[in-house]
Amino acid sequence: MSRVRSTIGIPPRMSTPLLFQPISFRSVTARNRIVVSPMCQYSANDGLGDDWHVQTLGSKAAGGAGIVFTEATHVSAIGRITPHCLGLYTPDHQALLARLAAVITQCGSVPGIQIAHAGRKASSQVPWEGGKPIPVEDGGWVPVAPSALPSVPGATQPHALSAGEIGDVIGQFAATARMAREAGFKIAEIHAAHGYLGHSFLSPVSNHRNDSYGGDLEGRSRFLLEVIEAVRGEWPSDLPLWVRLSCSDWVQGGLTIEDTIAVSRKLAATGQVDLIDCSSGGVSHEQKIPSLHPGYQVPFADAIRNQAGIATGAVGMITEPTHAAEIVANGRADVVLLARALLADPGWPLRAAKALGVKPEVPKQYLRATL
Ligand SMILES: Cc1cc2nc3c(=O)[nH]c(=O)nc-3n(C[C@H](O)[C@H](O)[C@H](O)COP(=O)(O)O)c2cc1C
Repeated sequence: MSRVRSTIGIPPRMSTPLLFQPISFRSVTARNRIVVSPMCQYSANDGLGDDWHVQTLGSKAAGGAGIVFTEATHVSAIGRITPHCLGLYTPDHQALLARLAAVITQCGSVPGIQIAHAGRKASSQVPWEGGKPIPVEDGGWVPVAPSALPSVPGATQPHALSAGEIGDVIGQFAATARMAREAGFKIAEIHAAHGYLGHSFLSPVSNHRNDSYGGDLEGRSRFLLEVIEAVRGEWPSDLPLWVRLSCSDWVQGGLTIEDTIAVSRKLAATGQVDLIDCSSGGVSHEQKIPSLHPGYQVPFADAIRNQAGIATGAVGMITEPTHAAEIVANGRADVVLLARALLADPGWPLRAAKALGVKPEVPKQYLRATL
């Protein structure tokens, strides 16, 4: 029987809305389908976080989200976006990450870690200092990339990785995944969106290689597929692995949703990836998003879920409980990820539950907030 699809919203209170029903990926079950999207805090030094990171993720877990992701957590010092981004590449970094996984778990959420390498967008200022590339002479570093193409005019020309160096970076992803597992994380997400290293291999805008890591979509997907294989070598088969993709480059000659459906099919075929987190953009400073509106990236999650046969997450300008509930209820995505709404209001899931007439699962200390 074909799936009945409605555009008029969820039926009134017939049962708990799907948004607030548990969801399982492999051995991991989340209490609902609201996910805290990764959000850089630009507040680490030498990759090391502190109490700031504990409070920001702890408050979101206590606020009732089903899954809480760390910010982009980098596999090496030169892979950080800014000098104040979080890293997980030494045992010193692991201690804080273990605390983060523990506080999220104690508050009833599933701890997820986003594993990242900024590629040619590394060595940037933090946003509140302008977000511009930091030249080497001002304390920046030379970023690495598939091709020696700066991310914006005037940025340091990145070093084009040799095949051997690509292997080293893939090894760093695997090492970070191992440390994340030891730290207690239950979901790992590989960041291959927003113009960072994984995305910059996938996109013809930033990958001009003519070896086996470049050329057609097959070649441009190779880096990501090898990262997935290496990470899976360290990430247990009973724990889920997600991948965040930019589903469109929003620029002439860049990746389109058709390309991304093809990539998603490849990822689904590996049997190693459990969900595609559907974002967009970030690889070209010339990108033009035709219409920024609530849920503008949801059609990507819908297309990939329904055409590539893999679970998806919808993200981007989802702020209303009924909208979040509708996306999941109508099978357009399996989970919703929220960033800014949860940054402003860690208790958003509690409010959403009230609005949808649900009694949410929260830590007992917060039970009176649900009355
Ligand atoms: C402060 C901030 C930091 C972010 N950091 C990350 C990050 O570390 N990794 C990532 O994939 N996306 C990052 N994003 C993007 C969000 O995860 C999300 O995709 C985007 O903000 C759209 O969702 P929203 O409309 O709910 O905010 C960040 C967004 C914000 C606002």
